[in-house]
Amino acid sequence: MVLRVVQLGEPILKSSCRGIDPDELASDEVRRLVADMFETLADSGGVGLAAPQVGSPLRLILAGSHPSAHGPDRPDVPTAVLCNPRVVWASTETEAGWEGCLSIPGTLVRVVRPLCVRVEYLDLEGKAGSIEHSGFYARVLQHEIDHLDGILTIDRAQSADDVVRRT
Ligand code: NI
Repeated sequence: MVLRVVQLGEPILKSSCRGIDPDELASDEVRRLVADMFETLADSGGVGLAAPQVGSPLRLILAGSHPSAHGPDRPDVPTAVLCNPRVVWASTETEAGWEGCLSIPGTLVRVVRPLCVRVEYLDLEGKAGSIEHSGFYARVLQHEIDHLDGILTIDRAQSADDVVRRT
């Protein structure tokens, strides 16, 4: 089922999410949430979605990357489910990039982030995984993990010049 995406101004976007107990991963609640998040993400045309954006307070994200008209150089990374994702290493080298967010439609925000990150997480079977990426997909991962801590792109803007209407 395609879910409504929570919009800027709704309190859950500013709250910290709770960790998922591995025992919960096989629950109907989590399985339905993941299935609905996949449908919602596909419907929106976005590259990532965090559980609080569909009203759930769990530390769970979807993140992928695909070349597109906007980003022909984006890597092709299948959309993955990451439970309790944590950035365990980040490069000192940073990069600025314009980010959209399904919860802040029509707006792009310039965000400076580490160029490379390593993220540890659990998959839906409860198996621990680790991914290291640079560039666009590293940005997607950091953007979605920020959502789990109530941090939005606009919180990371350094000046009003970093926020523009998408044309
Ligand atoms: Ni977002």
